[in-house]
Amino acid sequence: MKFSTKTIHAAQPSEAETGAVVAPIFQTSTYQQQSPGVHRGFDYSRTSNPTRARLEGVLAALEGVEHAAVFASGLAAENAILQSYLNPGDEIIIPPDVYGGTHRLLHRVFQPKGTVVKVVDFSKLEQVEAAITPRCKILWLETPTNPRLLIYDIAAICRIAHRHNVLVVVDNTFATPLFQQPFSLGADIVVHSVTKYLAGHSDLIQGAVLAENAAIFEPIRYLQNSTGAVPSPFDCWLTLRGIKTLELRVLRHAQNAEAIAKALEQHPAVTRVYFPGLPDHPDHDIAARQMTGFGGIVSIEIDGTVDEARLFTSSRRYFILGESLGGVKSLICHPASMTHASIPPEERRKIGLSDTLVRLSPGIEASDDLVDDLLEGLNRLGEDCSTKKRIEAIAT
Ligand SMILES: Cc1ncc(COP(=O)(O)O)c(C=O)c1O
Repeated sequence: MKFSTKTIHAAQPSEAETGAVVAPIFQTSTYQQQSPGVHRGFDYSRTSNPTRARLEGVLAALEGVEHAAVFASGLAAENAILQSYLNPGDEIIIPPDVYGGTHRLLHRVFQPKGTVVKVVDFSKLEQVEAAITPRCKILWLETPTNPRLLIYDIAAICRIAHRHNVLVVVDNTFATPLFQQPFSLGADIVVHSVTKYLAGHSDLIQGAVLAENAAIFEPIRYLQNSTGAVPSPFDCWLTLRGIKTLELRVLRHAQNAEAIAKALEQHPAVTRVYFPGLPDHPDHDIAARQMTGFGGIVSIEIDGTVDEARLFTSSRRYFILGESLGGVKSLICHPASMTHASIPPEERRKIGLSDTLVRLSPGIEASDDLVDDLLEGLNRLGEDCSTKKRIEAIAT
């Protein structure tokens, strides 16, 4: 079954009782039992629910594995992995530019309880291997990264990790299973913020953990029930609906991202465009090898002050200033004061996240409208920038 067919048919037969083509939302907390302990597979909706089970089935099919568990948020999904595999004294290795919330969860929640968090540049494979000790349990990576869209070589990292019996967790939120299949490259666990492209409409918060190996997955399923951070049946139904158009949407997001990256590349008010599809992106070759598309996010560095960058983000016509990404409506964000504000400024500087970086999540609107909206704001900045440069030139 091809990807787009899976989004419609995998784990989604017509409903048995009525033949409804779209299965109803099983909005129930509990289930009638025939006799104590005897039931039809469902006893309580924290443990399992038919709408949630359908969603888990389709997510597993899209990532090409057996097992999936959905959670009330991406961070709840991450927490389940970390709680399953880290005991006090254990080590986890991450690259510098993981999502701000992941950084906070590891440094402010797990580290004080005894987890050793090592931050290593994952583009330097020898440094990754050198950092592994017998206490290391997890190598954790996002690729493309947020917000600089660096690309790490999943297969090479998995080879290193597996030589030392270390698990590899890949956050596949940015790439989506359409563009990147981490299990085929050796990953042990995949995690998603379903909130983003998978659900796709900026109308819910949800996460997922996937695994092929039953033994690796078992503690995740156990924690899903025993800590209870499960999504509502309605949110699961919304995601099932969103996933039916995943391929159409993500292809359009990627087309729009590419059009924007190309249009802004030479703009005088932009000092740098981060988009892995541009041939001069430092990781373009890895991206071309391990992904089937370059994703839907573009980040840019504004040639100006922090205030100018903030003004640019708050005065767009179609790009709504807001946290998150991957929805049908375009979003714009200033990571230093929004998604990555929980990372201290000196840490942000170390990882190359400048205060004038702006992240764009183009939606599925017409690309000309999106490009024009950005150019309009940049031209205004550009005029200011060239005036500033003229004044500087006169002064020197
Ligand atoms: C790459 C990545 N992973 C995980 C998360 C956390 O997901 P959630 O916000 O659904 O808890 C986010 C949220 O922005 C993200 O961008």
